[in-house]
Amino acid sequence: MMGRRLLIAGNWKMNLDLYESYQLAKAVAEGVESFKNIDVLISPAFISLGVVGQKFKDSNLLIAAQNCHYEDSGAYTGEISLDMIRSTGVDWVIIGHSERRAIFGETDEIVAKKVKHALSNGFHVIGCVGESLEQRENGEQEKVVKTQVEAFLQNLSENELKNLVIAYEPVWAIGTGKVASPEQAEEMHKQIRNIVNGNAGEEAGESILILYGGSVSLTNAEELLGQQDIDGALIGGASLKQESFNGIAAIAEDISKE
Ligand code: PGA
Repeated sequence: MMGRRLLIAGNWKMNLDLYESYQLAKAVAEGVESFKNIDVLISPAFISLGVVGQKFKDSNLLIAAQNCHYEDSGAYTGEISLDMIRSTGVDWVIIGHSERRAIFGETDEIVAKKVKHALSNGFHVIGCVGESLEQRENGEQEKVVKTQVEAFLQNLSENELKNLVIAYEPVWAIGTGKVASPEQAEEMHKQIRNIVNGNAGEEAGESILILYGGSVSLTNAEELLGQQDIDGALIGGASLKQESFNGIAAIAEDISKE
């Protein structure tokens, strides 16, 4: 953490219909209303973004889309542009989640194009990176993550970089219940911070938020969030229940008060 403000982010993925999304957003917003020391973000599916974005724009929740396209408009059936997202009042977007990469074929180039497009249009971006199990078993995790991080950092201005958050999510820990140990996560976060330092200068490296994601739960959150270079969490499964998500946010709020 080290002077950085913790961000607790919930990635709802392809879960919850419109009504359920509204109900959960309401419960989360009420639960974190009094939190002053951290930021809390939820990311509903596109179909719910309009309602959630509008209804909770005056709450202290940040709201993100789970994806965007890299063109402004046009013949891209089924895709969503940044202007459409912005029209719901939302100006955060998650880009390059490992499910987008592995299931929908998003390469480092596509991810970098989206990150640049969103940042240059004034959005805040959570850019995701992380190695697969095979890559970790082959000892390639540092190289893989370095390539992924450097792909987004290319061509970003100093101002654009200020709105970038990086999420380190080892693919083998996502939705598996297998969490990276605090030491494994801290080691990678340190490496990512050094890459940002090397590419964009120490000030950028010290201020950028680096979130951990992959089976974060009420049981492991405190230890993970206590690491020096872990500045928050990107949470899938445990973000779908108000009790666990707000509970993790409460842990972060307590750590931040200390
Ligand atoms: P998980 O998902 O918390 O269910 O492992 C994390 C993510 O994919 O962002």
